[in-house]
Amino acid sequence: MRVFKEQLTLNSFIKKQSRDSIGLVPTMGALHFGHLTLVDKAVSENDCVIVSIFVNPTQFDDASDLNSYPKTLEEDLQKLAPYGNQILVYAPEVKDVYPDEACSNRYTFGLLETTMEGAEREGHFQGVATIVHKLLSGFKPTRAYFGEKDYQQLCIIQQLVLQEKLPVNIVKCPIIREKDGLAMSSRNTRLSEKDRAQAALIYATLNKTIALKNNSSIEDINHIVQSTFDQNPDFRLDYFCIADAQSLQPITTINHRQAARAFIAVKLGGVRLIDNVNF
Ligand code: PAF
Repeated sequence: MRVFKEQLTLNSFIKKQSRDSIGLVPTMGALHFGHLTLVDKAVSENDCVIVSIFVNPTQFDDASDLNSYPKTLEEDLQKLAPYGNQILVYAPEVKDVYPDEACSNRYTFGLLETTMEGAEREGHFQGVATIVHKLLSGFKPTRAYFGEKDYQQLCIIQQLVLQEKLPVNIVKCPIIREKDGLAMSSRNTRLSEKDRAQAALIYATLNKTIALKNNSSIEDINHIVQSTFDQNPDFRLDYFCIADAQSLQPITTINHRQAARAFIAVKLGGVRLIDNVNF
């Protein structure tokens, strides 16, 4: 497995190999099994796969969140080692990605960006779009792989690809869960043992909302979710929202023909966790 610190070197390496298709798996490292399922899919669908590992500073609105984000390059490379020559790793320093100042481009994503995560984390999606745009235009992959855990991010990236007319196929990959239902995330390692045990409540609550769907209003469901977390004071509910699966705008009545998703963000012991399900 080859590891590159510079995009230029990686690109000239690929050029020499004349590959038909390139798959890109963008990550911020702290790799877990969920990431590896993206890599597996990319390997099965492309001649060459690039896994990028880069904690992108422009998508953090909070310096302490950036500083405490797990940086585990050595362990990540060990997890990727079994893929051998099937993958190339791009693990740059900030300078290779942002040669001048690390700042975001300006994109217009309208209401997609101002709801949920966008409302909670200022500038977050501008930063995500900036790094993804750089990776897509830098490596020109045939396909790029993203998990549905960050569903809003996926919608923003699909919008970016349309707006910028980027010739790439965005492949959506399902959320991978732990045995108790907690969505896999690099942030889970920051949970204390006690909080990790309690975190299953998030997915259990989402499932409860689906079970309530036929006999309750959206208002009732919102209320039940809020009181579930009020009764568990270690959690702070940032938002719960049932929204249209494409526009991500909250829905006020249940229409069984409309594709909707239920989204949640909670804070547990200082760790922010998000999840979503098909509603
Ligand atoms: O989902 C992530 O890990 C990041 O937001 C991404 C897409 C790699 C961009 O930094």
